[in-house]
Amino acid sequence: MSEPAILPTDLARTAIDPHAYAEWDGLLDTFDHIRSTMPVAKIVPEDPDLFEPFWLITAYDDVMRISKDNATFLNNPKPVVFSLKQAIEFSRKATGSNMLVDSLVVFDAPIHPKYRKLTQDWFMPRNLKRIEAEIRDLAARTVDRMIGLGPQVDFVKEVAGPYPLRVVMQILGVPPEDEPRMQMLTQQLFGGQDADLSGTGMENMTPEQVVQLVAGAVKSFEGYFAELAEKRRANPTDDVASVIANALVDGEPLPPRDMAGYYIIVATAGHDTTSASTAGAMMALANDPEQFARVKADRSLLPGIVEEAIRWTSPVQHFMRTAAKDVEVGGQQIKAGDWMMINYVAANHDPAQFADPRRFDAARSPNRHLAFGAGAHQCLGLHLARLEMRILFEALLDRIEAVEPAGEAKRATSTFVGGLKSLPLKITPA
Ligand code: HEM
Repeated sequence: MSEPAILPTDLARTAIDPHAYAEWDGLLDTFDHIRSTMPVAKIVPEDPDLFEPFWLITAYDDVMRISKDNATFLNNPKPVVFSLKQAIEFSRKATGSNMLVDSLVVFDAPIHPKYRKLTQDWFMPRNLKRIEAEIRDLAARTVDRMIGLGPQVDFVKEVAGPYPLRVVMQILGVPPEDEPRMQMLTQQLFGGQDADLSGTGMENMTPEQVVQLVAGAVKSFEGYFAELAEKRRANPTDDVASVIANALVDGEPLPPRDMAGYYIIVATAGHDTTSASTAGAMMALANDPEQFARVKADRSLLPGIVEEAIRWTSPVQHFMRTAAKDVEVGGQQIKAGDWMMINYVAANHDPAQFADPRRFDAARSPNRHLAFGAGAHQCLGLHLARLEMRILFEALLDRIEAVEPAGEAKRATSTFVGGLKSLPLKITPA
């Protein structure tokens, strides 16, 4: 049997360095090189105490195959997101589990389909129609506010950040006054690899203090959502919080940790992701006034812009899988128990699938990108994400005449969910 393809150290460093993800073009260059030379490559840490070795998967076809074969490529038992051994140890101390939160992304069959079924219908387009008017109203208010602050605004701070957060909080029944608390808890829970975004001061704490902080955040989340669930059991509404609160699996309500995990995955998965794709779409329009004029005149182009922005930004940059058995991928022999990174940024920029992949092409067709994943875990909120973006851009195109860059756009340093953290723009109202 041939030797495994071990990725040279400098390339391996890039694949796991949060700062490399803030330098987009350099990152894409590196992935192009890795994909064309070693599409399935083993990353072995220089220091074995740092993290467990894993396979980096960068080709579109391989990421698609792995995502769809949920019996061979499991989400459990290793972390679903690339984690240092120290972080896994923290998690175990804080919660007794390898993962801080047990949720849909952590479960495999037979539990996963049972949990997923609970809210699947709620997130389908037919049901989302009921909340469309509320989202439209929120979009209009957000855009009006931005115009009031103009002509120069940071689009991420004023629009792309707060708008998806409010949508998700609304569907979870979290009132606006509790939003800062939810945001703070999320930051404490996930730490944040970006000093500007984290704001928790974690970088100055001892490991024990971090464990305490994280354990406290998990408890706070559980307490908050237990209370919310109680309210929704007493007085159900038509929000997704009520569906989770009243759900039965095998005739039993969800255990408190699983219920909190369900709320937390919806709260966190639906926020920074849509922020990143929204900001990316706006940057593409600001950089291309002709495209802006075309879509302003012809709104039928909008769904293409939304879809291309989601591919182009690939806000969820990777997930991890664990092989359930020995299996060959891209000519490499993967062993049962091996850990693997499916890299959506690399897959969505694979020239074998997408012609001129770095170009923002609103007319790209087909555009079968992997930004929402594929298979049993494919994004539960993908219809909501598209709807939110379409509605926001309708409001923006109605109210603004022109948009242009007004400073340097900055990306977050993060290997997991990434994208623009700042997008200064000059807005000309209509
Ligand atoms: C542009 C925005 C978004 C992107 C790029 C995105 C991307 C993803 C990806 C890549 C996955 C994992 C797929 C896989 O493993 O195959 C996922 C899962 C998930 N997403 Fe999204 N997402 C977005 C928006 C949302 C929204 C708005 C919500 C809900 C409010 C949401 C809720 C979820 C949930 C609950 C899961 C776990 C599904 C499961 O494991 O069964 N996402 N998302």
